[in-house]
Amino acid sequence: MIKTEFKRQAGDWAKRATSPDLRWVVDHLHLRPHFRVLDVGAGTGLLARALSPHVADVVALDLTPEMLEAGKQAAEREGLTNLRFELGAAETIPFPAGSFDLVVCRWLLHHLAHPIDGLREMARVALDNGCVVVVDLVSPTETSVAHSYNQLQRWRDPSHSAALSIEGLDSLFEQAGLEVDESHKLDVEEDLTEWLSVRNSEDSGKKIRTAVMQELSRTGPETGLRPFCRGNAIMFTHTLRMAVSHRLRRPTRTDDGSDRSARRAPLSLTVLGPHRHDAAQSG
Ligand SMILES: C[S@@+](CC[C@H](N)C(=O)[O-])C[C@H]1O[C@@H](n2cnc3c(N)ncnc32)[C@H](O)[C@@H]1O
Repeated sequence: MIKTEFKRQAGDWAKRATSPDLRWVVDHLHLRPHFRVLDVGAGTGLLARALSPHVADVVALDLTPEMLEAGKQAAEREGLTNLRFELGAAETIPFPAGSFDLVVCRWLLHHLAHPIDGLREMARVALDNGCVVVVDLVSPTETSVAHSYNQLQRWRDPSHSAALSIEGLDSLFEQAGLEVDESHKLDVEEDLTEWLSVRNSEDSGKKIRTAVMQELSRTGPETGLRPFCRGNAIMFTHTLRMAVSHRLRRPTRTDDGSDRSARRAPLSLTVLGPHRHDAAQSG
């Protein structure tokens, strides 16, 4: 399903350029020139390519060969030499434990049937105290609205599994042995017609538009897309959440058998937003 869907979408992704929400991600990362970085579910490497000038090297890992190929060609055009594209799954990352200073993933977790498996792997390949950063869609908190939101997303893109709430995601971080240090939120406004240009079928596009129109005319339930009109355009709002976490140290045993797992003092929690812009390109 994933590979079929992103083989279909690869042409559209290849045309995408740096967007304000991508710059927002890069601006919040604490990058260092010596960093080895892994981008999981990197697609065409939009984020990996934006990071590569600031760090030592970047690996862009993805399941879909067509996305990787489009990314490779773009990186060559851009003259990026410290970036390589590798085929692989988030649930079985093909690198040894403790290989990266920074592991990032953007718009991946909502595609995974079992996001905890991907997050555990990201924690495994991060260095002790290494950073794992997840940027993803946030689902509405109310269960019925979250259900509708995820249903509409799946109609547009059948490889969408489920966006999680902030609380749901935080619980996964804990299970994966990651401590969240910073949490940033961004509201992104999108044009419905543009968003639906990457729809699965004519029929799915119609179903989404009907649901949105019914919400706008108050003849149908909340979709979770928070639609509104701007001139003749129908717009809607996604919420993106960026969680910056660090991997807790692997426990080390001292001679007397006590557990010496050192926990780094958490950084301050900053919750920013909402911060609005147009021209978003979510996946
Ligand atoms: C919405 S795109 C996001 C691409 C990229 N992260 C970005 O921000 O531009 C999702 C990507 O995740 C990849 N993907 C989905 N499931 C995956 C998995 N289990 N392991 C690795 N990649 C996966 C897809 O092939 C696709 O390229």
